[in-house]
Amino acid sequence: MPGYVTMAGVGAVLILFVLWMVLVYYSRRTHRQTDHKLFSQSKAVGSGLLFSLRQFFPRFLSPSLPGPLSLPFLGNMLELTRDHLPNHLTSLAQRYGSIYRLNCGNTTIVVLSSAETIREALVKKWSDFAGRPHSYTGDIVSGGGCSISLGDYSEEWRTHRRLAHSALQRCCAQSLHSVIERQALSLRQVLLGYNETPVDLSEDFTVAASNVITTLVFGKEYEKTSAELQRLHGCLNEIVSLWGSPWISALDTFPLLRVARRDDIIRSHLQEYKVQCHTEGTGGTITASLLQSLDQPLGVTKKVALTETHVHMATVDLLIGGTETTAAWLCWTVAFLLHRPEVQSRVYTELCTVLDTRYPQYSDRLRLPCLSALISEVLRLRPVAPLAVPHRATRDSSIAGYFIPKDTIVIPNLYGAHHDPAVWTDPNTFKPERFLDGGMASTRALLPFGGGARLCLGESIAKMELFLFAAYLLRDFQFLPSGKDSLPDLTGIASVVLKAKPFQVIVRPRP
Ligand code: HEM
Repeated sequence: MPGYVTMAGVGAVLILFVLWMVLVYYSRRTHRQTDHKLFSQSKAVGSGLLFSLRQFFPRFLSPSLPGPLSLPFLGNMLELTRDHLPNHLTSLAQRYGSIYRLNCGNTTIVVLSSAETIREALVKKWSDFAGRPHSYTGDIVSGGGCSISLGDYSEEWRTHRRLAHSALQRCCAQSLHSVIERQALSLRQVLLGYNETPVDLSEDFTVAASNVITTLVFGKEYEKTSAELQRLHGCLNEIVSLWGSPWISALDTFPLLRVARRDDIIRSHLQEYKVQCHTEGTGGTITASLLQSLDQPLGVTKKVALTETHVHMATVDLLIGGTETTAAWLCWTVAFLLHRPEVQSRVYTELCTVLDTRYPQYSDRLRLPCLSALISEVLRLRPVAPLAVPHRATRDSSIAGYFIPKDTIVIPNLYGAHHDPAVWTDPNTFKPERFLDGGMASTRALLPFGGGARLCLGESIAKMELFLFAAYLLRDFQFLPSGKDSLPDLTGIASVVLKAKPFQVIVRPRP
């Protein structure tokens, strides 16, 4: 009898083992065959049984994520130190597929490189992936987690983001258009002053973009030479590098002194601002709106009390998010137009035909398809936040059929999605015409602002800025190479913001 029991036991174990092997085999096979369309097809191929078993035991039955060989101690840490990280992560996607993993110490990083996987994580399962990686330094930099961009997902964060969003909407509805127009006109004056000598425009673009935000936020604008502006940009630029740090060691070597300096500048502005509010009224800026909302009693929908630190950090978020991004996009646009002057002529002709002699309004954008196509194509080829900001899984979840445990860091590789050969024909070529009628490009696969709960907070500001700045510049000037054989390099320098390498250009006023 004991012999039979043992035999039966061994038999049962064998059957279970064989069953397990079959499941693993099916799951791997399904995987190889389908790449990123895996989830839907695995239902068909792996049969209903596999599908239901996976739902009950996702951790054990999901296929393991592909990825490069992990070295002892280092894991795949070296992959993250490569030059032009977006390019490198995109080339890994060609080998491992639109979802793969990198191991860094105890942390698993999952890289998503197609619009489909990014949408699944950020939009469809937004609450599963709305977190941000934790770190000691990140906490200090973000004012104890009070920042919108670096703060983790929580009730407090949601209230903060909602308030900042409505303050932004209110203020933008009142004055955004005129604020951008004013900056576009003063940029025009600066460019006229160069008298067609070769110049690097990156700083002028930064000042213009920064003045839009400082006007909206504090009601203040600066000259390019202002010492305060230089100080502010100096420390914000370094802080922005935090946005892309996917793992803790990088965050924790961050120079905290700069944070103190940043906080001093913003604090003195807020102080000055509060005095001004008392003596001259509020002036309809974002800060005024945020400060007012602090004074209001907590309503049913507002369960969390926000403090001045939240106002302070929202200001920092907008300054950081709104300056280098827009400026980098303007530089890229000029760089690409120097390579394809016929696109520049086409947009200019369109502006003259549709608008006659007047300057454009944002409401003209549907009547200016060539300009809109140019904007989309530059955002596609050089998404200025190429890896967005790292996300963290707030709970166990899945992407494309792979099990993703809580606390996994997820990098939306927007650059990779925008160069995906399965979606874009000739993905590396600058072809705005792909977005015109008959051009076949799908704007659904264009995700320069991310998506879901963490969608860029300044998307509507950015869209209006890109449109109006580009329209004003291209209507008033022709951009020419600074010399024979001196076209700008289009590879760029990638940190959190993907910037063009410095280049010079001649700016010739249109007759
Ligand atoms: C061309 C212009 C811009 C582009 C392409 C861009 C793109 C992005 C992207 C990809 C993200 C990360 C989304 C994610 O985590 O998945 C982001 C976040 C953010 N952006 Fe922008 N951005 C631009 C301009 C702006 C402007 C003008 C502002 C502010 C005025 C701004 C404020 C922010 C903020 C505060 C966040 C953090 C949102 C959060 O974590 O909830 N951005 N942006």
